[in-house]
Amino acid sequence: MQEKTKDNVYKAFIGEAKAYFRLLAYAEKAEEEEIPQIALLFRAVAEAERVHATRHLNLIKDLIVKDTDTNLMDSFKREQSISENEYPELIKSAEEEGETAAATTFGQARDAETFHAKLYERAIYQVIKNTVKAYQVCQVCGYVTDKKAPDKCPVCGAPREKFRTVE
Ligand SMILES: [Fe+2]
Ligand SMILES: [Fe+2]
Repeated sequence: MQEKTKDNVYKAFIGEAKAYFRLLAYAEKAEEEEIPQIALLFRAVAEAERVHATRHLNLIKDLIVKDTDTNLMDSFKREQSISENEYPELIKSAEEEGETAAATTFGQARDAETFHAKLYERAIYQVIKNTVKAYQVCQVCGYVTDKKAPDKCPVCGAPREKFRTVE
């Protein structure tokens, strides 16, 4: 694929992926305002933007998605970089501006990313136990574990009910 088209497809993918989440937030707002027809419209168009995002991504899939060993290593490195470089910068800046909610969100995301990195690292070194049948994901901070959902999330303190099973 030509360079410029490749960049444009990637940009379109990012734009549609963002629109998906933005429209779901709009739908939630419309629910709160008790305008269910508009909430439904936003949810329907969000679903369409998800289709677009997936379709764009499919066009450049071979450029982005490699074999699983490579994808694991790539994911591990991204988690490391984001938790060691990018989030600390964001946390520092939020603290400087006195934005405690953002600092907390960034801080917990950074902590959760370090656990993601550990899970990938174990997978890379092939020490994932075949007995792992499910993962538990904290819906507040994104902490992931292959154990039972803890009583309290070790990253954000959320109770067990806040965990969602991925199996
Ligand atoms: Fe992560
Ligand atoms: Fe959590």
